[in-house]
Amino acid sequence: MCGIVGYTGKRQAAPLLLAGLSKLEYRGYDSAGICIHEGKQLQVAKAKGRLQVLCDQTNNGDAVKGTVGIGHTRWATHGAPSDINSHPHLSCSGKIAVVHNGIIENEGKLRNKLTKLGLQFYSETDTEVVANLVGYYYGETGDFLTAVRQAVARMEGSYALGILCADLPDTIIAVKKDSPLIFGYGEGEYFIASDVPAILKETQTVSYLDEGEMVMFNPERVQFFDANGDELEKKKEHITWELDAAERGGYDHFMLKEIFEQPKALRDTLSPRLKNGEVVLDGIDLSAEYLKDVRKIYLVACGSAYYVSVLAKYIIEKTCRIPTEAVMASEFRYAHPVIDEKNLVIIISQSGETADTLAALREAKRLGARTLAIVNVVGSAIAKAADQTIYTWAGPEIAVATTKAFSTQLAVVYLLAAYMAQQLGTMEPEIYAKWVQELEKLPEMAEKVLSQENVQKIQYYASRYYGHHDAFYIGRNVDSAICLEGSLKLKEVAYLHSEAYPAGELKHGPISLIENGTLVVALATVQPLFDKTMANIREVKARGADVLCVTIEEMKEAAQENADGILTIPQVLPELQPSLSIIPLQLFAYYVALNRGCDVDKPRNLAKSVTVE
Ligand code: G6P
Repeated sequence: MCGIVGYTGKRQAAPLLLAGLSKLEYRGYDSAGICIHEGKQLQVAKAKGRLQVLCDQTNNGDAVKGTVGIGHTRWATHGAPSDINSHPHLSCSGKIAVVHNGIIENEGKLRNKLTKLGLQFYSETDTEVVANLVGYYYGETGDFLTAVRQAVARMEGSYALGILCADLPDTIIAVKKDSPLIFGYGEGEYFIASDVPAILKETQTVSYLDEGEMVMFNPERVQFFDANGDELEKKKEHITWELDAAERGGYDHFMLKEIFEQPKALRDTLSPRLKNGEVVLDGIDLSAEYLKDVRKIYLVACGSAYYVSVLAKYIIEKTCRIPTEAVMASEFRYAHPVIDEKNLVIIISQSGETADTLAALREAKRLGARTLAIVNVVGSAIAKAADQTIYTWAGPEIAVATTKAFSTQLAVVYLLAAYMAQQLGTMEPEIYAKWVQELEKLPEMAEKVLSQENVQKIQYYASRYYGHHDAFYIGRNVDSAICLEGSLKLKEVAYLHSEAYPAGELKHGPISLIENGTLVVALATVQPLFDKTMANIREVKARGADVLCVTIEEMKEAAQENADGILTIPQVLPELQPSLSIIPLQLFAYYVALNRGCDVDKPRNLAKSVTVE
């Protein structure tokens, strides 16, 4: 979704802002803009479309001179993508410029009030309301900081803001509420950004702004303020992400790079937590004492993280014998969940900022539940708000369609399941030992799935099936959950209509849609259910479907008798099998997308991190 970058220092701001924005392109956007302080003027350049349009318009930033500026990539919410609706927005007075992520919920009311005061609006955006509100109070008070404070006090909703004032040539004010914002420290220069990759090349020392916090800064002075307006010291944090982690590094796409990074990401997430044959969760309390009165576990998340939750239900119920339910975060709050202190709510989020997921976490806390978050981005809102947080160590994930974050979330679910099962005594010691052993081997197994031979096979099947109009992913038990994610990948990056169904449910409707040339991707990795899935494959084949089957090496021959194409993965414990079976599905979606000429890393209409409801 929208991205923010800001800079003040001695260097030319525009090229730095454009470079920063290019690192935020992955979040999804439809227009881009910058505002540079030049003399006593605020110079705005903005354009609908790709960032390249703005780069061409400004000669890669050279055409707009000045050493302080703010930049933005916009993902339309209020008003269509257009040059006028793009950020930054200026106040009528021309004194204030604003970039904004989030949504101002009372913008209608504020717009009416400001219109009555004689102010004019040119765009349909809520951000122009912010610019005029700050502009109005600046006109009244003549003080930039006071004006921002007064404006913010009247705004409802979520916002990360970067604000310039024409009369203060080197100063930026940034404010954060319910939308991420980080402050970056350089040598005599400072940055703001909505996301680490935007400034990673320039600095790895940052402070994360907390709810309601504000920072006013110029090259000589940085002042942080808390939500009450009191000045505060912020802790400096070091970002451990490697510099090249946010680069494509020789791969054609981030998605492909991140698929291949999965063995490393799994290793980084798992190995520090597997010691001497035990699962070790430092700093996390999930002791028998803690768990003894947990009546039910809820897993709450959006998108792929929700599908991890669906998998987790199978895994936790089987291993820990605690009733477990997966709930979409967007539904959670409005479903009147029956939740209290006897419930553990596990929140899963790569970004740690997804609006619905964050809201669900707050609701769970309000209801008195215990909360634990599985998050990738350190210091994110969800990581901070949950009672306990376990980080996935996937590194930065740039492609919109998640791959390595999904895999590492699942890995954490395995760690939690084994750990809790051992605490509760619901797992035989030999089974526990086997789990730990196999978890240790999982990164190596993932490497095997990514062998050149396998990848070539997947490329072949993608080239054979990319022209199909409809796909159905079918499987049973954990396979049915992994089908959801495989099918989502195909929809997201290849724009191919695709649905996922538990194989046993096919006959209750979807089979009526199977005809000549329908693609069915069947997962059959759960050995006790293998024959049943084969029977379902025969049913769809009899109706003309082309069937691609993913199964374990041991069952290859049996599967070959039924399916048109076979992809195999090594056999591990049935619950751990999804970690491997997702990989061919990710690659299949990727290569189908390439064959269909899709923009894999920036799929249409999608955003990496959905920070509005
Ligand atoms: C978006 C992304 C998905 C992601 C979902 C949840 O839809 O495109 O890849 O699974 O948000 O994001 P989160 O950051 O909360 O895991």
